[in-house]
Amino acid sequence: MDYFELKNGEICAEDVPLAEIAVQVGTPVYIYSRATLERHARVFREALAGIARTHLAFAVKSNPNLAVLSLLKKEGYGADVVSEGEMKRALAAGIPAADIVFSGVGKSRRELVAALDAGIGQFNLESEEEGVELADIALSKGMQAVATLRVNPDVDARTHAKISTGKADNKFGVAYGDAAEIYARLAALDGLTMRGLAVHIGSQISDLEPSRQAFLKMGELMQTLRKQGFTVTHMDLGGGLGVPYRLGEELPGPADYGAMVEEVTRDWDATIMFEPGRVITGNSGVLLTEVIRVKPGVNAPFVVVDAAMNDLARPSLYDAWHDFLAVRPTGEKMVAHIVGPICESSDTFAKNREIDTVKAGDLAIFRTAGAYGATMANTYNSRALVPEVMVDGDKWAIVADRLEPETIFAAERVPEWLD
Ligand code: LLP
Repeated sequence: MDYFELKNGEICAEDVPLAEIAVQVGTPVYIYSRATLERHARVFREALAGIARTHLAFAVKSNPNLAVLSLLKKEGYGADVVSEGEMKRALAAGIPAADIVFSGVGKSRRELVAALDAGIGQFNLESEEEGVELADIALSKGMQAVATLRVNPDVDARTHAKISTGKADNKFGVAYGDAAEIYARLAALDGLTMRGLAVHIGSQISDLEPSRQAFLKMGELMQTLRKQGFTVTHMDLGGGLGVPYRLGEELPGPADYGAMVEEVTRDWDATIMFEPGRVITGNSGVLLTEVIRVKPGVNAPFVVVDAAMNDLARPSLYDAWHDFLAVRPTGEKMVAHIVGPICESSDTFAKNREIDTVKAGDLAIFRTAGAYGATMANTYNSRALVPEVMVDGDKWAIVADRLEPETIFAAERVPEWLD
């Protein structure tokens, strides 16, 4: 459910015609709907209402825009961060340090120090070595770091291989079979308070069974640890719930997920922590683009749009599907390849796709671009960094400027010895 709908023959974000934004900001541009973000944040929270103690940390990586983070802070979300940069963003948005969870397989010493100094609430340790280093730093500062141990449950999330994280040969967490012993050794360290376990088996998960299996395994491990006398008060179940990318696609939603988690964790007597990203932001944003021209092809025409793989990387990286809709549809359809202007063939959004008929100068959107969209953008081919807009009813604001090449290359230097 989102608030990008046809009104008087053209797609609007809430009450704002997308064409109005295109005229004033140009294209390509990401557009987020405040009402959709709020709705998703609330639906996800309500889906977990049956669980006695919960903590919700928004996965900043899915959309780190400060306006998005500020909105989610208002909705009572903490933050799941994976770098010092994301931590700084969460803090800048006013999210209390105590509500920030620091995940990530390669936290550097500098990042561990910065996070301790900031007073973040929980470190999700990805290895014993990281825990030892964190304990050492904390001790030297006379501090106590609060942590969970991320465990790799060796469960196949049945999602795209590049976004699957819970199989034994993925780099994440410690091996399930080693986890109890590692937990015991970490719990004995001064400077470290081990309070629980963490798991995250992948993203865009469209089948709840693998998550259920993973959570059951985590529950068993939790009981083993408790029997051995260790304290386990927090269980972090990560993020990963998928969203529909195709109009009409049916996936398990937050309510199904909440019911599953509630059933599995009923007797856990722990605070159940969540790190949702895509389920909050995915359908809250679209990428607005203009058709540069339509070029004949051998099998089908190429619709060349002014957005490219540097603006929305998901199709080139994961063969991901994003619905493509004309902003002012005529009702006619065509079969075409949708491509961007970048000089490589991976800059392809869709092949032989039936789409609304479009011509040069028409506006169109890629749907479900609010998660892992702008945040993964880059400036390849010296393109501008794509701007972002947030809509609220009939008003809107630019929430990230377009960074023009001049701004970007102003940070570059030509050494004088090149003369
Ligand atoms: N927690 C951890 C530890 C994670 O690694 C992730 C995502 C999340 C939470 C949030 O997952 P979500 O609820 O958004 O599925 N760039 C890829 C997705 C990579 C996800 C990485 N980790 C894409 O565009 O599909």
